[in-house]
Amino acid sequence: MGHQITITIDGPAGVGKSTLGRRLAQALGYRYVDSGALYRAVAWQAQNADLDPADPDAVARMLADFQPRVHANSRGFHVAAGGREITPELRTPAVTQASSRVATQPRVREWVNRFLQTIARDGGVVAEGRDLGSVVFPNAEVKFYLDADLATRASRRQREWQAGGGDPGLDQMQTDIAARDHQDKTRREAPLTVPQGAHYLDTTKLQPDEVATQCLALIRENLGARAIGI
Ligand code: DC
Repeated sequence: MGHQITITIDGPAGVGKSTLGRRLAQALGYRYVDSGALYRAVAWQAQNADLDPADPDAVARMLADFQPRVHANSRGFHVAAGGREITPELRTPAVTQASSRVATQPRVREWVNRFLQTIARDGGVVAEGRDLGSVVFPNAEVKFYLDADLATRASRRQREWQAGGGDPGLDQMQTDIAARDHQDKTRREAPLTVPQGAHYLDTTKLQPDEVATQCLALIRENLGARAIGI
């Protein structure tokens, strides 16, 4: 097997990062790494321990002995804690809300970043989130930043909810995503930004297949350039 690189995907909520991440990981035989799931796991644990997710000292104390197990492969990213798989529980509205609270706390970000850097030590990962190309893996060989307009992202998220049997309504979805955009872009710690050297793709008018094809072409260009040493 040739040298395995690190690929990052950043962008706002509902833009298609996890769909693209899984597709790229499958096409390349890499592991898919979902950094948001780690922020969600911290929020899940705080909820479980009856802690206020907005209390940085309480959350930091909790992290001292929180050791979730993660399993990353090309199809998904699974998290287990307390001896059982918790991945499906990470997407409840309460955990979603609490995750954006804990994500503003520097000690939580350090904990997540160390976790991610350990997973990606040997390369061969497609990692997605908000600050992966800018802060966590500034030397990643290929970086993408995905964007799409708010209405498109809200309706994509609504379709995901409908597929799962729920439907919060388009207006509610749009309001929630706009609030998370604001929180992610204006926070002091590692705000969402286009990383230096990232390929910027506006996916508003693109199908997932088209996004994946464009990104794979860019990755192959990079891998080809490495193989022939240019
Ligand atoms: O991508 P997601 O919705 O699963 O992310 C959950 C929360 O974690 C969200 O509020 C953004 C935050 N997050 C972050 O701050 N940095 C990352 N690299 C990934 C997620």
